[in-house]
Amino acid sequence: MVVDWFYAQQHGDDRGQLVALEAQKEIPFEIKRVYYIYDTLTGVRRGFHAHKQLKQLLICVSGSCKILLDDGTDKEIVTLNKPYEGIFVQSNMWREMYDFSPDAVLLVLASEMYDESDYIRDYDQFLEYVKSSGGDK
Ligand code: TYD
Repeated sequence: MVVDWFYAQQHGDDRGQLVALEAQKEIPFEIKRVYYIYDTLTGVRRGFHAHKQLKQLLICVSGSCKILLDDGTDKEIVTLNKPYEGIFVQSNMWREMYDFSPDAVLLVLASEMYDESDYIRDYDQFLEYVKSSGGDK
């Protein structure tokens, strides 16, 4: 698996930095939902699911956290710790998020509205699903 990194353009000047993210420009999908995870307690591991359709961009805009990605064949762990760096997470990808620093804010841009029926929350079901769908992204 090759992690699909995203590097935002930084609009910096002597006042500081600014990053802008626009659908269909920097982000190759229509952004239908934005959410963020913060105040995560030490030792907490979350996620533990894959999506059938949803595409996401994850950016840790403050602090740091680790993301485990698993496409059913390969696993990779990345550290997100810069407000201008992120990863695209395609559908059919198991993810777990952990090692959140106390100041971590994990921003997620998502291609679809919240839909529980798009989730696969059981790891064995996920493996079955990727096998049967041929790992379509
Ligand atoms: P959950 O899926 O458990 O988060 P994670 O995948 O990070 O472990 O979501 C936590 C709660 O938030 C759960 O009650 C569902 C709710 N939620 C929404 O209402 N809308 C959303 O877009 C998301 C991602 C979660």
